[in-house]
Amino acid sequence: MKLLAPSLLSADFLNLGKDIDMVNRSEADWFHCDIMDGRFVPNISFGIPVVQAISQQAEKPLDVHLMIVEPEKYFEAFVKAGADIITFHYEASTHIHRAVQQLKALGVKAGVVLNPHTPVAVLEDIVGDLDLVLLMSVNPGFGGQQFIERTFGKIRRLKAMIEDQGLDTMIEVDGGVNTQNAAALYEAGADILVAGNAVFKSEDPEETIRILKS
Ligand code: DX5
Ligand code: ZN
Repeated sequence: MKLLAPSLLSADFLNLGKDIDMVNRSEADWFHCDIMDGRFVPNISFGIPVVQAISQQAEKPLDVHLMIVEPEKYFEAFVKAGADIITFHYEASTHIHRAVQQLKALGVKAGVVLNPHTPVAVLEDIVGDLDLVLLMSVNPGFGGQQFIERTFGKIRRLKAMIEDQGLDTMIEVDGGVNTQNAAALYEAGADILVAGNAVFKSEDPEETIRILKS
């Protein structure tokens, strides 16, 4: 699969509706919403009411990336706000299996996120329960950071794990994705690429989305 999820973290918050319409018109597949609490990551972004507003205008699935402590507490609220896919951090949850079952019961796609330092091997006994795994290719907290090259090895190791177990779990990659590395990331096994700055800071975001996917 070759899906693209523009991250609204880099959108123009004064004209969010305009940027949502652009994504609706474009070849992009999902809306990526970055939720930061100032505790799990050293930054605060936006929360439930904003996701709810986005969902009213978005015509594509909302991919909600929770960079928050105690993510389980907020699953239901984000689902009610319109989330279709929810990912939460391995490093923020003690009972991943239970949390994944909670998401499934709420009727959304469930994914676990790994920080750059967390090896993919920790997912061996849970990957079969996941719809997707999100690999961070920057340290979470900010848009516009530099891609960590070591992510390529992680994608390949995760892909091998998924194939060994005969699964169809999707691999999402988030952080520093641009027109220079997108093709190689899909090639390495990524199914979904997140792109914030590369899309919204470009001169022609719709065209950039097309290039990122091609
Ligand atoms: C980082 C976020 C990313 C971020 C990506 O904490 O999870 O989704 O918005 O932004 P770029 O593509 O600019 O690195
Ligand atoms: Zn993200």
